[in-house]
Amino acid sequence: MPNIIKPVSHFTKFESFELGTQLIDLALKYKSNPALDQQKGKGKRIGCIFLNPSLRTRVSTQLAALNLGLEPIVLNMDKEGWALEMNEGAIMNKGTVEHIKDAAAVLGSYFDILAIRAFPSLTNREEDINDFVFNQFVKYSGKPVISLESAIRHPLQSLADQITIQEQTKGEKKPKIVLTWAPHIKAIPHAVANSFAEWTLGMNHDLTITHPEGYELDEQFTRGAKIEYNLKTALENADFVYVKNWSSFNDYGKILQTDPNWMLTESHLKNAPNAKVMHCLPVRRNVELSDEILDGHRSLVQEQAKNRIFAAQAAISFLLDQ
Ligand code: CP
Repeated sequence: MPNIIKPVSHFTKFESFELGTQLIDLALKYKSNPALDQQKGKGKRIGCIFLNPSLRTRVSTQLAALNLGLEPIVLNMDKEGWALEMNEGAIMNKGTVEHIKDAAAVLGSYFDILAIRAFPSLTNREEDINDFVFNQFVKYSGKPVISLESAIRHPLQSLADQITIQEQTKGEKKPKIVLTWAPHIKAIPHAVANSFAEWTLGMNHDLTITHPEGYELDEQFTRGAKIEYNLKTALENADFVYVKNWSSFNDYGKILQTDPNWMLTESHLKNAPNAKVMHCLPVRRNVELSDEILDGHRSLVQEQAKNRIFAAQAAISFLLDQ
């Protein structure tokens, strides 16, 4: 009998409406009873590898693993690991100490599941679009990989966001969802905005995206969304307003403007009395979003952050079933 090699499944992006629905339902079950599948991952280990800072992703993924009986081990590779070489055939006579193909293979041999955070450079658009660093880990580890935010996607955040929307609407009405650009003092990646658009459209919601001209996102993520450059028009009768900064995609990684009129305040929502406001956190208060919104009745940011645990629990559980 020939060996049949089972393809390795990963959790790196939106796959289908059916899988999205299954993951949301499973996450809500785990939220009601976090210990539901406490034995499922017994004897297994998940390696959480961070090339960039994190609060929510780092902690919620470990909590999710523990809820399923897995042992999580965190490596802050940017600070504690060797400087990684990413390029094939590199002559490593400069600053890099260890090749990704060696490091990823070692990590693959230590863990049953790997989870990786690898932000974009925002200087090399081609490499970032192809998720080069993240995919090097996928390629060389040989294990199921969960994205803890790659150069272009943040699927655990997006799953948590969809769980939060589902909890609020209970599937009773088709909400008007608006993704709005906000000012920021630093050049910020596109991953959260891309993924939010990908998952929101994939789950068959109506999505309006509003931003100043020049801040158009990569069309592969926004196809099917309405693009509205007028913030006031975009926000009319919104049910959910997702606030996020991102740098320019076309003028890659650049900050084109920081107009404070794009910071969402209560006065922007006069024509959206029922609007709930979302943000993935961390948030720059009174730059991206006003205190009055963040501390007021509209804010869902703490619910989103809590749901990160159950999104991760559903994703890990899904990979354990493969
Ligand atoms: N939203 C989010 O991913 O938060 P962290 O960067 O703190 O993990």
